[in-house]
Parts: sequence; structure tokens; C-alpha cells
Amino acid sequence: MCDTHSRTAWIQGWDGIDEPVWHQLRMPYRFVLLGAPGVGKGTQARLLGEALGSCHLSTGDVFRAASEHIAATPAVKLAKAAMKRGDLVPDDLVISTVYERSQCLQCPAGFLLDGFPRTLQQAQWLDERLGQLGVMLDAVVHYELPTEQIVERLCGRRTCEDCHTVYHEMTRPPARADICDDCGGRLVLRADDQPVVVRVRMDAYLKTTEPLKEFYGDQGLLIPVRATGTPEEVLERTLQALGISTSPDDGRMLASSR
Ligand code: AP5
Repeated sequence: MCDTHSRTAWIQGWDGIDEPVWHQLRMPYRFVLLGAPGVGKGTQARLLGEALGSCHLSTGDVFRAASEHIAATPAVKLAKAAMKRGDLVPDDLVISTVYERSQCLQCPAGFLLDGFPRTLQQAQWLDERLGQLGVMLDAVVHYELPTEQIVERLCGRRTCEDCHTVYHEMTRPPARADICDDCGGRLVLRADDQPVVVRVRMDAYLKTTEPLKEFYGDQGLLIPVRATGTPEEVLERTLQALGISTSPDDGRMLASSR
């Protein structure tokens, strides 16, 4: 990284980059986005990334890219099988994947961690790693949405099989049915959005990830945000909850508390 809109270093690993472009932003924001599958974390990470300049780092994206493009090593096979079932990828594999990309956590543009951490072990490791890197989290945003709306979002989601842009049949339809606006690729239902797999993902979330609310609540970092309404309304609510406003001077987003 860190061209703020290029996610190559994160997805391919740092070695995928010849010459990182370091953006000199005055105020990097470092957030974790928590919430159930389909609540809209990826959508908000994209919008927040555009608004704040922070890099969108999704572990789900890394594992999907690895299972599509990397030769099927035992680790990739393990991750792919877990995702297919809707289970979590084992902690040691997730942690080594993020460890390899630690430089993205030091990005001067800041970061938006989407889908990581997801277990207590991952959260404790992240705290330790950020401490070693001399970087601090600003906040952990927890998106909340009733289950029936989560199911509607997941059932209607369509993803470009080439560039992975996310659409929704009702709320973010492409201009031409089943064709990606950005690259012309085919839009498909993600394999783990099948109802039977969604149930396993929701169980994994409730059992393993929801307890992180207490972990981050105890550190004073947790910010709950209602995820109802349009993506733009949720973005607005998130920025308000984080105390971030638009500066009239330069049009950039500034934290009122800084
Ligand atoms: P991951 O890719 O992280 O999936 P997830 O957490 O289940 O989240 P989703 O990507 O399904 O949903 P989202 O919240 O990002 O919603 P989105 O914005 O797309 O992980 C996949 C798998 O990888 C895991 O199951 C696990 O196996 C493995 N994995 C990844 N990280 C791991 C880790 N750390 N540890 C262990 N295993 C790991 O929105 C959904 C839909 O709703 C879209 O169609 C969107 O257009 C629409 N939408 C969004 N917002 C709105 C809105 N406000 N109004 C209307 N529609 C909306």
C-alpha cells in the first residue's frame, strides 16, 4: 500500500508491490468494523475509505482471492473448505495471513479492518501486534441490524466474479442486469450466500465474534451504529458517532475531537 484506493498490497501480500506510494495524510484513521455477515461492513468500508482516505483491509477478500488465484496449497485448501461450509478459517492461518501484511497496518493513510478480528485470540493478537508497530486503534464500530434485514441484504447481494464489486438486486442494482458496471464482468451470488451456509456463518458470528463487543467495550473503543437505511445514511450516522465532520476549509473529513 498505500495508494489509498489500491488494495493490491493487502490482497496479494506486500511482495506484490514494487514501490509503495505513501500518502501523507494529516490525520490517519484506524478503525475495526464489526458486525454480522451481510450487515454492510464492506459497503461502509468502501464509503468510509472514500471519505477518509483510509485503506479497506478485508480478510474475506484475501481468502477469496487466494482460493481463486493461488495454487491450492494445504493452507489455501483449508481456508477454502472453511469458507465453503460457512465456518471461520482457523486462527493460526488468519493471524499468519495478517502478520504477512503488517505493513498495511502502518499505512500513513490509516486503515479500516473489515472482518478481522473475529475471535478473541485474533483480537488479542491484533492488540499485541499494533503495540509492537506503535500504532493505536481509534475505534471499533459495531453495526447493528435486525436479522430479517440482514437476510434480505445477503439474499439480494450480487458480486462481480472478476473485480469483486458488490451490488444488490434492489438497493444497488447494476445498470445492465447481471453485468458489472465497472468491468463488464458477470455478477454472481457468492457461494457462501446460500441460505444453508448463511445459517452457519450467523452461528459462528454469534458464538465467536459477538463476544468481541465486550472485549472492545472494556477498552472504551466500542461505538455501536444502527445499520438501517441507505448506505449513505449509515455512513452519515457512522461519521457522526465517530465525531467526524467535514471541514469547510479543504473538504476533507476531520475529527472534531482531534
Ligand atoms: P467476509 O467476506 O468477511 O464476510 P462477512 O463478514 O460474512 O461479511 P459479508 O462480506 O458477507 O457482508 P458485509 O457485512 O461486508 O456486507 P456487504 O457490505 O457486502 O468473510 C467470508 C468468510 O471468510 C467467513 O465466513 C470466514 O470463513 C472467512 N474469514 C474472513 N475473515 C476471517 C477471520 N478474520 N477469521 C476467520 N475466518 C475469516 O453488504 C451485503 C449486501 O447488502 C450487499 O448486496 C450490499 O449492496 C447491501 N447493502 C449494504 N448496505 C446496505 C444498506 N445500508 N441498505 C441496503 N442494502 C445494503
